Amino acid sequence: MKITVVGVGAVGATCADNIARKELATELVLLDIKEGVAEGKAQDLMQTASLLGFDTTITGSTNDYTKTANSDVVVITSGLPRKPGMTREELIGVNAGIVKGVCENILKHSPNTIIVVISNPMDTMTYLALQSTGLPKNKIIGMGGALDSARFKYQLSTTLGCSPSDLNAAVIGGHGDTTMIPLIRFATWNSAPVTKYLSSEQQEKVVADTMVGGATLTKLIGTSAWYAPGAAGAAVVESIVRDEKKLIPCCVALDGEYGQKDICLGVPVIIGRNGWEKIVDFGLNEEEQALFNKSADAVRSMNDVLKTL
Ligand code: 2OP
Repeated sequence: MKITVVGVGAVGATCADNIARKELATELVLLDIKEGVAEGKAQDLMQTASLLGFDTTITGSTNDYTKTANSDVVVITSGLPRKPGMTREELIGVNAGIVKGVCENILKHSPNTIIVVISNPMDTMTYLALQSTGLPKNKIIGMGGALDSARFKYQLSTTLGCSPSDLNAAVIGGHGDTTMIPLIRFATWNSAPVTKYLSSEQQEKVVADTMVGGATLTKLIGTSAWYAPGAAGAAVVESIVRDEKKLIPCCVALDGEYGQKDICLGVPVIIGRNGWEKIVDFGLNEEEQALFNKSADAVRSMNDVLKTL
């Protein structure tokens, strides 16, 4: 199994670290545009192999895509991260050009790969990856929902005083502060609905705090977060390479599912060796469907910006 991570800033390097620790690949290639950075981080990670006990060969390359040839999975994290006060959407101008170039280069050397998109604004970058590669839709996956659902579980766990691992909770819709939809009605604490244990005020706060989860960290740290985004990317990769068939909310191309088409948006999907293999219909109520449609409208107008670039 060969995996490539393109863009090895904090998110890409953390994703690579998780991929190595989990031994998801025999060969892991890091690629970055900045001279020497991918080579340096690859060596640094390789020097953890004997300490952590993994057997993956990690190499780095400065923008030489021939090194990525025949990758089974490619994770794209390229582009600028958010600064405090910025929305993910404000990154579109710069990041669209970068992600389009990365996709074209990847495809030349790995025409059958599966692409996991982390770059922001993630829903639009996933849509762009689908359009610029022409790959079958099942091979393009945006990881936003995996991350937002982990943040939802964190918020629920601190409010309930329980283990995050005992929770099942999904965030669908866009990966944006106002477009994501934490589905609290469906969230369970080891099978019991969390709504049974939380007041309406608590539920509203958990949802609101989840939605601004990334922005809160950007304000505290001064740039985008990386531990959870990197781990979320690796969790999606793990379900692909181990063919786990995990049900993970991810951004995928919709063709009428959840009432939307010609858009990539977060919905619960089964992830396995073929990429995303099935969209699972949760059966939204009217209010949830209205939020989903509103989220789709916002993401669609962001996608329209691509035409003007
Ligand atoms: C975040 O939400 C990087 O979009 C990512 O932290």
